Amino acid sequence: MARTDTLKLGTFVYTFGFNPAAWRHPDADVQGANKIDHLLNVAKISEAAKFDFMFLADSPAAAIGDADALARSPTKMNRFEPLSLISALSVLTEKLGFVATASTSYYEPYNIARLFASIDHLSGGRACWNVVTSDHDETGYNYGFEGLPPHAERYERGSEFVDVVFGLWDSFEPDALVLDKAKGLYHDKDKLHTLNHKGKHFQVRGPLNIAASPQGRPVIAQAGGSEAGMELAARTAEIVFSLASNLERNKAFADNIKSRMAKYGRSTNDLKLMPGLVVNVGETKAEAQAKVDFLIDNLHPDVGRWMLGEFLEADLSGVALDQPFPLERLPTEPKGSKAMFEWLRDFIMEGHTVGELIRFYAEKSTGNGITGTPTEIADFMEEWFQAGAADGFILMLPTLPASLNDFVKLVLPELRRRGLFREEYEGKTLRENLGLSMPVNRYAAARNGGIAKET
Ligand SMILES: Cc1cc2nc3c(=O)[nH]c(=O)nc-3n(C[C@H](O)[C@H](O)[C@H](O)COP(=O)(O)O)c2cc1C
Repeated sequence: MARTDTLKLGTFVYTFGFNPAAWRHPDADVQGANKIDHLLNVAKISEAAKFDFMFLADSPAAAIGDADALARSPTKMNRFEPLSLISALSVLTEKLGFVATASTSYYEPYNIARLFASIDHLSGGRACWNVVTSDHDETGYNYGFEGLPPHAERYERGSEFVDVVFGLWDSFEPDALVLDKAKGLYHDKDKLHTLNHKGKHFQVRGPLNIAASPQGRPVIAQAGGSEAGMELAARTAEIVFSLASNLERNKAFADNIKSRMAKYGRSTNDLKLMPGLVVNVGETKAEAQAKVDFLIDNLHPDVGRWMLGEFLEADLSGVALDQPFPLERLPTEPKGSKAMFEWLRDFIMEGHTVGELIRFYAEKSTGNGITGTPTEIADFMEEWFQAGAADGFILMLPTLPASLNDFVKLVLPELRRRGLFREEYEGKTLRENLGLSMPVNRYAAARNGGIAKET
């Protein structure tokens, strides 16, 4: 039976677009990494199109490695800190949600709880925290570690971290503010709660010094394909950003995560599985392919090697483009995302040269890349949606704003014609637009005799 809900859509944001050569596109605003105009424009286009959110991936470190390649690839070298950026963008927009990435490996829970609650208030309920444990060594070097802490350790800390943040967000019950000037009473002291968390990684007294936010708590996004990542997602996430490279794999991933939710008392409606999708669209297939070719032709080989090496955690410097991939340089176990690593390793095992790999990666990037006409792209999205392999997509547009404008102009009307995407926002908050239920404050629930009522 056809689904009755509609697709959720988000714009994935690296400043100039997902392709490392995007900053060289004729329409790129090369000042865009340090001035608000460009990213505000991307937000406004996304909002006018009625997208659910703008998604800011992040890492608290400049990339390290081949300095010549990095000098040609600004993505990780010069960019806004996402929470600062979304606090500005959120007051200049009205309906668009903002997903900002922040790492449980390097923040403290109190900081995260406070920052996101503040932005949820400032935006009128449009904030979302993308929970990551981080995925590259360079981050660790900035926080007193010798590279990235081990995977299991990161997830153990990450899991406790999220619990503490949720606890802090419940500090004020939703109706705790009395605001009675005549009586001189600001808040009801019985509705403000001290967490007193003492765990393996954190000791946090609380309470949080900001009232419950418009969404009850900010929406939670998560991106991690490992066993620990899926468990954390099933327990806490409301948006899951996946990278599986075909429908069957993504469906299996979606089913796997969703099947784990019942044991946490959660409904599968409260988790939106959103694969990343690289979209290259043109009026004709040839036009779409020409756009891809332009970017690949502008991708310097040093950048290509570095980009591939970064995801594979392998140093590819000095490897000729017409040579097969040097398998001996691959780590047996990646430190970062296992999902991305396994997907690229599968392609390598087919015996391609380094040059072919770079081309493949530059076009398809993290798994799902589609180059084609509006109908082909809408068919792809509809098939995944109807099969239950996706509740929506995080659009990894190769260039910003050019590819975003193309998508809005060419693909969106086709999705709307098929009844697959909204004409208007349904609600005011990101949570309402995503169709997620309102979380219940634990203390208010206990006051109601343990019955979880909507707040
Ligand atoms: C689709 C996707 C997007 C991710 N985006 C980020 C990101 O923006 N910043 C970051 O530090 N880590 C990111 N990660 C990695 C997460 O930090 C993740 O916690 C870590 O790589 C372990 O993932 P795993 O569960 O797949 O092994 C991403 C991972 C995936 C699969």
